[in-house]
Amino acid sequence: MTLAVSPLLPRELFDFPPDALWLSHCKDGPVPRASAQRLVELLATELHPWALRWNEDFLDIQASLRRAGAALFGVNAHDISLTTCTTTGLEAISLGYPWEQGDEVLIPVGEFPSNRLPWLALAHRGVRCIEVPLWAGQAKGAAVPPTASIDPEQTLLDAITPRTRVVAVSWVRYQDGVRLDLARLGRGCRERGVHLVVDGIQGAGTMMPSFDGVSAFATGGHKGLLGLQGQGLLWTDATFRQQLVPVGTWLSAPDDFSQTGTQYGGDELWATDGRRLEPGSPSILSCAVLASSIQMLIDHGGAPAIQAHVTGLQEALLARLAASEVWAAEAHRLSGLMRAHRVGPTLSFVLPPDRADRLLKAAEAEGIGTSLREGYLRMAFHGWHSGQDVERCAGWLLST
Ligand SMILES: Cc1ncc(COP(=O)(O)O)c(C=O)c1O
Repeated sequence: MTLAVSPLLPRELFDFPPDALWLSHCKDGPVPRASAQRLVELLATELHPWALRWNEDFLDIQASLRRAGAALFGVNAHDISLTTCTTTGLEAISLGYPWEQGDEVLIPVGEFPSNRLPWLALAHRGVRCIEVPLWAGQAKGAAVPPTASIDPEQTLLDAITPRTRVVAVSWVRYQDGVRLDLARLGRGCRERGVHLVVDGIQGAGTMMPSFDGVSAFATGGHKGLLGLQGQGLLWTDATFRQQLVPVGTWLSAPDDFSQTGTQYGGDELWATDGRRLEPGSPSILSCAVLASSIQMLIDHGGAPAIQAHVTGLQEALLARLAASEVWAAEAHRLSGLMRAHRVGPTLSFVLPPDRADRLLKAAEAEGIGTSLREGYLRMAFHGWHSGQDVERCAGWLLST
């Protein structure tokens, strides 16, 4: 019997070949057709710069992306900065924070390099970056995968010392798919006078984050947010932002740059809003594409609706696998994590390497886009997936 769940985002919004099953937005999200059309329209401003209107085609497009990002996340557009990617957002924090010799940053073991290298690079300023295992035995290669009993928030809070200034985590982890409880971690960090900085890319667009107690949230736009590579967003708490040395450029002045009038001549060098952390002239094309994609997500119910849709599909897949002797243990482990609200949009299965290899080969032959990271086979769901896709995914997994 086919599971009767229609896509929340109709497939026709995208350019999927009829038999494609893309379960890899954890790697790269598809740009919707409408956003690609927007790109084509705007390409005219690059071909014909003499026709470019400074406000409408440049400043307003940036502002529209800040507004769209803020609406999706339920925050104020003043607190959004445009960045090129997750890494540059995190670097605005790591380079801008007023560090003192001996300060410490805590990050979990197994972070994606975007949330590791910017902190390790602070060693020359006397700042130690300490990597904290989130559960006993956590190591590369999925040696001990996460279960429902893990408590990563408490583990991180317990690792805080009087020297800790920042705890920096992935909201959703890229390999094992674990989702951290940002509200709980944020509260705990704030009570201890520590800033929580978040790499949000693996959940943005499909899950609803909490910004309560969070000081900064950085994401690239090319995965669940369905934008182009090279365009991201950074949200910062307004008070925290004022403590950072601005890394902005000439576009980060208190007033918008005027092409005709006189420039701002006041004492303040930098805007107080998110623009103060922006790394220079953005690509208007990628700003417009991301704004359009985010607006499409909002128009279809936004992150809460997509999260509910994705969760339903994940539960259905795990229920199908639970009946199989080969898959029961992993289905049980992941169902436990789901009940503990510990899963993002991606189900990450641990399999013996030879079986994972066979599954990847079969997936490629069948037009199923999936990926393996650190021993975890990842299946990432989004709004365009349907009950039929779950059936197809189950068929592939059970047959190999
Ligand atoms: C957790 C995480 N952070 C960041 C990135 C990408 O970083 P950036 O946006 O800087 O390219 C990835 C890409 O796979 C990721 O999985």
